[in-house]
Amino acid sequence: MMKGNAVIGQSGGPTAAINATLSGVILGAKECGCIDKIYGMRNGIEGLLAERLVDLRQAVAGPEDHYALERTPASALGSCRKKLPAPDSGDGIYEEIFGILQKYDIKYFFYIGGNDSMDTVDKLSAYAAAHEIQVRFVGVPKTIDNDLCCTDHTPGFGSAAKYVATTVQEIARDCSVYTVRAVTVVEIMGRDAGWLTAAAGLPRLGGQITADLIYLPEKPFDQEKFIAAVRAELDRKPNVVVAVSEGLRDAQGAYVGQSAQSGAVDTFGHKYLSGTAKYLELLVKDRIGCKVRSVELNLPQRCAGHLLSGADIAESVAVGRASAEAAADGATGVMGAFVRESTRPYRAHIEFVPVSRVCNKIKYVPDDCFNASADNVTDELLISIAPLVLGRVEIPEKN
Ligand code: F6P
Repeated sequence: MMKGNAVIGQSGGPTAAINATLSGVILGAKECGCIDKIYGMRNGIEGLLAERLVDLRQAVAGPEDHYALERTPASALGSCRKKLPAPDSGDGIYEEIFGILQKYDIKYFFYIGGNDSMDTVDKLSAYAAAHEIQVRFVGVPKTIDNDLCCTDHTPGFGSAAKYVATTVQEIARDCSVYTVRAVTVVEIMGRDAGWLTAAAGLPRLGGQITADLIYLPEKPFDQEKFIAAVRAELDRKPNVVVAVSEGLRDAQGAYVGQSAQSGAVDTFGHKYLSGTAKYLELLVKDRIGCKVRSVELNLPQRCAGHLLSGADIAESVAVGRASAEAAADGATGVMGAFVRESTRPYRAHIEFVPVSRVCNKIKYVPDDCFNASADNVTDELLISIAPLVLGRVEIPEKN
């Protein structure tokens, strides 16, 4: 058993479940018997570098604190998007980081995040291995985008998918009341992967109305085909709802919404996406000329704490706890991944995979999940997503 302290960070975009994972890591660290102090880094690795650390044994002391944390959306420790240079770059930042880890006797480092955050875990564990430093680095998955490789799905996705499915169904119900011809385009996050947008189709499984057309970024977006598909839907019924991914691209690879974007990029080179639905609203107005609205779900879909998925929160805690146990058992340079055993009934277990197989990669929605015209997703895909959004989480109300 390697005795020492632990530090936990949250990185990348927040989710409604990322604090449940934080709670799980703290629980596992408290239980494992080899971790003394449990620090939290404020704003991820940036906070570690500035030695902005909080005492998590004190901040999350008892069961009521864990209960509250697991129901609190967004990253309680704050977040960052910071890319480290290559471990062999000679950049002094590694000496700085490892100097701080040594100063606080930190032997266990947990980083809760997506593909970019796993890059940080990968680089730090590679540096530690190359310099024979006894610190264990474990990545703990989270992202509403559900785009991490080597795992069936990611914590945070289920709750966001539940919000998207619920909200798009509610939009479809609202839009269904008039007889006037109208198109409503709903834009959903997910960057270059379409998993979250696909969730807009979920109400279909229960025979409920929802988006009539669903466009994901995995397929090149063709404006002419889009207008033809919308016209065909309008011939069938007066109200058409379309769900689109923020990251839709045309055949040349240009983002459909780029005219509305600032062009700004984060440190990993990702463009800030938005404006796709607005662009399509104007296109429909111009080409079809009917009543048309765009709705950008934007930030509300990421941290919808009022609509948590019970399955998501339970798994988020579990993967956090399992990560602390794995680190105590000697694991380093790995990430907890969900392996699905069956869908009906839903069963999955956690395995640990090398983080190098996850970082900087994207798991796209596969080809066989689309209909022939690539303007909707298959029921099979929806059936596989469905168990991830199930179950309610009780949220206490006060005053
Ligand atoms: O990766 C998660 C995500 O929510 C993406 O879906 C979205 O494109 C991006 O983060 C937005 O990032 P930011 O919060 O930095 O604007």
